[in-house]
Amino acid sequence: RILYVPLDTAALAMGADAVADAFRAEAARRGLGLRLVRNGSRGLHWLEPLVEIATPAGRIAYGPVTPEDVPAILDAAWPDGAPNTPDGTHHPLCHGPTEDIPFLKKQERLTFARVGLIDPLSIPDYQAHGGFAGLGKALGMTPGAIVDIVTESGLRGRGGAAFPTGIKWRTVLQTPAEQKYIVCNADEGDSGTFSDRMLMEGDPYALIEGMTIAGLAVGATRGYLYVRSEYPQAERILTGALQAAREAGWLGDDIQGSGRAFDIELRRGAGAYICGEETSLLESLEGRRGLVRAKPPLPAVRGLFGCPTVINNVISLATAPFILAQGANAYRDFGMGRSRGTLPFQLAGNIRHGGLVEKAFGLTLRELLFDFGGGSASGRPLRAIQVGGPLGAYLPESQWDTPLDYEAFIAISAMLGHGGVVAFDDTADMAALAEYAMEFCAIESCGKCTPCRIGSVRGTEVIRAIRDGQDREARAELLHDLCDTMMAGSLCALGGMTPYPVLSALRHFPEDFGLAAEPAL
Ligand code: NAI
Ligand code: SF4
Repeated sequence: RILYVPLDTAALAMGADAVADAFRAEAARRGLGLRLVRNGSRGLHWLEPLVEIATPAGRIAYGPVTPEDVPAILDAAWPDGAPNTPDGTHHPLCHGPTEDIPFLKKQERLTFARVGLIDPLSIPDYQAHGGFAGLGKALGMTPGAIVDIVTESGLRGRGGAAFPTGIKWRTVLQTPAEQKYIVCNADEGDSGTFSDRMLMEGDPYALIEGMTIAGLAVGATRGYLYVRSEYPQAERILTGALQAAREAGWLGDDIQGSGRAFDIELRRGAGAYICGEETSLLESLEGRRGLVRAKPPLPAVRGLFGCPTVINNVISLATAPFILAQGANAYRDFGMGRSRGTLPFQLAGNIRHGGLVEKAFGLTLRELLFDFGGGSASGRPLRAIQVGGPLGAYLPESQWDTPLDYEAFIAISAMLGHGGVVAFDDTADMAALAEYAMEFCAIESCGKCTPCRIGSVRGTEVIRAIRDGQDREARAELLHDLCDTMMAGSLCALGGMTPYPVLSALRHFPEDFGLAAEPAL
């Protein structure tokens, strides 16, 4: 009898450990032989802790489960203690076969194919589900051929900037140096995002495999995995996975007898949003305060310790194994326009069915919000959706039919970013949210450049004054000017993109600022 209880942070926050303990205790009391596997999350957050029971016909889902539900679930799953013949569908928490739950069934999980399915730390489980096949192929390829296949796949940086991954790798490959590095940016700081965390907690070997493939592609023998301090569970799982991968010969001086070397060191961040910016992250890795560096030189040319460095987000790196194993076309066949493949969207905020939706580019925001998300959690009409983290624009309903595609979003002065989608209902005060965006920038600014360091403080004051009703029209013009200066003069995306949420709130919801309409400038 096999039963799955997730060990993902979202499930733990909803009491998964207590549920696992209750299953163990109740099974022991009944004398039932039970194998309890701690898997990653399936990403159906409203059902966490989502418990699954293995049956000959596939896994059956129950959720959200509390310790009090455990005896009745065992009764339903194995009536009279029968082995593996569960028909728990009459249990109120039973959702039938997990794979048939519409939220999951409608997805196209390429990068997340194993997340929630496997025991994250089991190498045999990983390999039984296609793990290390991509690296196995890469070990027999030249660096240039690996870069070519990633370029052909159309993969673009999933941290948010969407720069073509293959071109980044080629720059590092073509820059001669004794030492090169692979750095994984796991400082997932965007509000409402969790795809990096879910991947690291649910399928850590995919990231290790992806970093190793990147190392082979550019000639780097060392990798650093920079994990934010707010992710202790991801850190624990990755630490175990790194150790196990080393012991199994998938990391080290002679990977699987190939004579190729690559190893990874895990580093913990210290809780600054700006350390997710790539050059700040490098400063932090080198032991200094997270202060943004001017570019050029690009990290691909002069990065960590002055050496050519690939810095990629978790999802970009964890997608490389699929591309190597299945081929470039298997990935680029998904998507639209220049946005190829899939993006793991993260539904959060005031939404009925929050969680992870990996889907090819091209569906609309409305489909994501209603077909997957089921509308607002409060039952009130949705009003504004922030896409792309705290630096993303607030989108009114008139823009929800925009396809989720990098270029289509740029065309409406928005961005897809890292795929975070945060929903607000009609009780949201958009002027308060605009003030919050500026204040966030003021708090998180690294302080290196004036438009961001001073501009965000002045911007917060101006929005406050508008909300207080002081000379609103003139101050709205001032706010526009200030936003122009921040966009044009900031050194990095924090100062340069904070105007996106502010201006979108002003443009689409002027009434919340006490303005008749956005000032015509
Ligand atoms: P960027 O456009 O400056 O650079 C994108 C990447 O491409 C960088 O790694 C850069 O070094 C590289 N690159 C550019 N030209 C290159 C070339 N010729 N050869 C090789 N590499 C090259 O964008 P940036 O500042 O790195 O990222 C900004 C984005 O970060 C925003 O759009 C936002 O979506 C995202 N972001 C994500 C967060 C998260 O939690 N995931 C948090 C905050 C922002
Ligand atoms: Fe630092 Fe802000 Fe300038 Fe970025 S924009 S370098 S965070 S001060």
